[in-house]
Amino acid sequence: MKKFCLSCSSLNWKILGVLISALILYSCDTGKKYHSFKPGELWLDDKDIHINAHGGGILYDNGRYYWFGEHKTEGSGGNVANVGVHCYSSKDLYNWKDEGIALSVEPEGSGSPIEKGCVLERPKVIYNAKTGKYVMWFHLELKGMGYSAAQSGVAVSDRVTGPYKFIRAGRPNPGKWASNTSEEMKNMEMPQNSGPYPGSSLPMHPDSLNIHKRDYEGGQMARDMNLFVDDDGKAYHIYASEENSTLHIAQLTDDYTDHNGNYVRCFVGRFMEAPAMFKHEGKYYLMMSGCTGWAPNAARSAVAESIMGEWKELGNPCIDADSALTYHSQSTFILPVQGKPGKFIYMGDRWQPENAIDGRYIWLPIEFEGERFIIPWRDEWTWK
Ligand code: GAL
Repeated sequence: MKKFCLSCSSLNWKILGVLISALILYSCDTGKKYHSFKPGELWLDDKDIHINAHGGGILYDNGRYYWFGEHKTEGSGGNVANVGVHCYSSKDLYNWKDEGIALSVEPEGSGSPIEKGCVLERPKVIYNAKTGKYVMWFHLELKGMGYSAAQSGVAVSDRVTGPYKFIRAGRPNPGKWASNTSEEMKNMEMPQNSGPYPGSSLPMHPDSLNIHKRDYEGGQMARDMNLFVDDDGKAYHIYASEENSTLHIAQLTDDYTDHNGNYVRCFVGRFMEAPAMFKHEGKYYLMMSGCTGWAPNAARSAVAESIMGEWKELGNPCIDADSALTYHSQSTFILPVQGKPGKFIYMGDRWQPENAIDGRYIWLPIEFEGERFIIPWRDEWTWK
């Protein structure tokens, strides 16, 4: 018969206690593996997997940040949407919890505009206080059609992390002129060669081609995009239009799921992509890139007193080595840090088109200098 040993049993309890404390300490520690940003390095989520949320944006909701972005897969084929939009959440912006796929692509062959293999880029989510819904917008290119569709997709959810339900895709504002379209442009004869020009290699100044008029009936092209919600609750869709030559800023309807017909054409013929907007001390700021596909180029910036313009260009906000290549990145979002007025974070993508899943994130502080904002390089930094 086994003898009961008091000293052994208390020793066992002690060992168990030590093990439990070590486990608690370990799990706290794994929950907080980062205490700073290290731009360009692998960035692991709570499951120790590199964050997969490219071309992303962030919504702050009920005390947490939610990061939505393109879920990429391995290889060069990983740039198309094989999975959908991935969501992560965080309280401190350094440590991110995998919240799963917020919007899934539809099965191959389903005929859905968001079927597997489409191009679904730069998703952004905003919350509509009137309807209580989370609204996601994204750039959509139909499967097998390259970048010619130039559409915007919308999806909604009752929960921030999803699942989001796809409701519609199309081109913004069919049958509507921008509020700053000249009468001359409306009445201009269409030039002979005003067909669909691929990419940004237009043979003439875009206004001579009058792409705006060409697309009047069917809606304006919309590729790289962002959303911005103003202090008065009005939301705006900002997108590269007119064969990427001209940026549009378009107001959304009160429920944020459609355009309301009020929009402007900005930076005509400047070929801006990757727009990211923020507001500081009553002024609106935009950061954008030029048009060189996945390859980085020099960023641009602009300021305006009113969201619909006039916009004034301020030049490249990057100031340190490799500023001409935006530190090998392209803007995707500018994040206001909650409860810290004047603190903003530049979020950029360092694309890896040959192995899309390995794309890195370049997050850097925004500083203000006179009327412009600047982005210094940091190897490592904290937002506090
Ligand atoms: C970039 C754009 C990306 C993606 C890429 C495709 O210019 O910002 O979102 O569309 O082109 O080449």
